[in-house]
Amino acid sequence: MTSKETEPTAFDQIGGEARVRHMVDRFYDLMDLEPRYAHLRTLHGPDLTSSRDRLFWFLCGWLGGPQHYTDRFGHPRLRMRHMHVPIGVQARNEWLSCMQEAMTEVGIAPQMQSRLAESFFQTADWMRNQEETTRMGSFKSGD
Ligand code: HEM
Repeated sequence: MTSKETEPTAFDQIGGEARVRHMVDRFYDLMDLEPRYAHLRTLHGPDLTSSRDRLFWFLCGWLGGPQHYTDRFGHPRLRMRHMHVPIGVQARNEWLSCMQEAMTEVGIAPQMQSRLAESFFQTADWMRNQEETTRMGSFKSGD
């Protein structure tokens, strides 16, 4: 065994650019078509072409593959780039469910799905920028 052998990246294990593109396209198709992602869909503009490209470029690098996004736009600063989008728990949950469905449909291996789902959750949760209106206080007796 040579000391320079490297672990295959998540990008390689998934199947490279073709599979990442397929997953991203499925993600936006589902968002566009499925009523259960209607709230998430309303947060996007009418044309999803640029979002499809940008998420694809971003995920290639994020998974350890080519840095298409940073080559074009510099540091992703994802939270900052989402500040004009009101992201609460519902938007976060719809994003995560939609991505989960896309991963399953394009045949990402179950173990890889769990690994990615965990990272997606961390990132999506960190992007929340809305105070939630539901309070435990609403359940107090006498309300
Ligand atoms: C938490 C729920 C999320 C919502 C509601 C959301 C919504 C959006 C919207 C509406 C846009 C288009 C913005 C525009 O064109 O003006 C966008 C762009 C983008 N999103 Fe998200 N997103 C979420 C989570 C994520 C996550 C978890 C990732 C990465 C893992 C991600 C990666 C991106 C990227 C790379 C762009 C393009 C940014 C740019 O270059 O301006 N998003 N998102």
